[in-house]
Amino acid sequence: MSTQRRAPIGQLALIGAIVLLLIAAFAWAAGWIGKQRINGGDVIAALDFNGGKHPGYRRAHAKGLCFSGTFAANGAGEALSVAQAFSRGRYPVIGRFSIAGGNPLASDGRNVFHSMALLLNTPDGQQWRMAMDHTPIFPVADVASFIAFQRATKVDARTGKPDPAVMQPFLAAHPEVKAFQDYMAKAVLPDSFANATYYSINAFRFTDRADTVRLVRWQFVPEAPLTGLDKASLDQLPRDYLFREMIARTAKGPSNWHLQLVVANPGDVTDKATVAWTGPHRTIDAGTLTINAASPEEADACRDLNFDPTILPVGVGLSDDPLLAARSKTYSTSFSRRAAERAGPSAAGRYLGAEKTR
Ligand code: HEM
Repeated sequence: MSTQRRAPIGQLALIGAIVLLLIAAFAWAAGWIGKQRINGGDVIAALDFNGGKHPGYRRAHAKGLCFSGTFAANGAGEALSVAQAFSRGRYPVIGRFSIAGGNPLASDGRNVFHSMALLLNTPDGQQWRMAMDHTPIFPVADVASFIAFQRATKVDARTGKPDPAVMQPFLAAHPEVKAFQDYMAKAVLPDSFANATYYSINAFRFTDRADTVRLVRWQFVPEAPLTGLDKASLDQLPRDYLFREMIARTAKGPSNWHLQLVVANPGDVTDKATVAWTGPHRTIDAGTLTINAASPEEADACRDLNFDPTILPVGVGLSDDPLLAARSKTYSTSFSRRAAERAGPSAAGRYLGAEKTR
């Protein structure tokens, strides 16, 4: 008798424990308990705070230009990766030039990222999506710092500058940002999308035929010589200068870049996009990117693409850089929001041919 009474109590206790475990698992997954997790929506809120909300457009790098062309691989990249993109051949690309910021109608006269995004397709059905900036380093190394950076660098409409009361404590807490600020202050600001070098910034894991893994950062180096904008008179630059220049240049002929694969030396930092790799490195020229068509993004295919840098072909994988996962979830949130907004009547006007909105 006594055994029969004890059994249901034990079973009830077990069921109770399972229910509690499930509740705890739900609470953890929802982020109610445990270490605070940052989701794509948190980052988008910070970007909207910084750049204002522009429905239908990317939450960062909102002002863009679509392009298409080819990547001609010379076979040398096979020494580092089995990705078909490195086998000798020509592969179609579509991509997007952009300038940093959330406002698609902003002026090009700003000392900010000039950027290139690429989608490279190979016959084996693999895709390689990249999003690169014209700087070898990024201001911050993790997503919490990225949010703080967006909040600190919001321009105060009264002064035209970030609020020092927010900026100074941010810089004190994030000394790593200084390397980026110094770079932007000193480096030439390219006067064309065609003469900028575009850097992966993040490191990636390349795997070759022998299963040897190497950490690699890459850059697209232009054939066009680098010439710069006058940083002292950026406010005089016509609003869409870079975009019009690239459309006009492409109408006259193609622009070329060389894909340089830079292999990490022992001791190079691979999990912090704030730290440059300095000194000599093994570098392989893997082929030539040629761009021969460009058009405003509102009328072309790149608008509805998510250049998520974690969509990689076999032979190229993620490194230990935590920014990569943060970028993936944030680009995805930005993409789904802008795609849904475009269905509504509130999408912003076109930037080219919209001079009156300047
Ligand atoms: C190595 C660092 C980074 C680089 C090189 C980079 C570069 C780029 C580029 C080139 C684009 C434009 C892509 C396009 O034309 O569609 C872009 C878009 C974007 N970036 Fe980044 N980015 C970096 C880090 C981050 C981080 C850390 C975040 C936030 C966690 C972020 C948030 C975004 C968002 C929300 C978009 C718009 C995505 C879309 O709607 O398609 N980026 N980025």
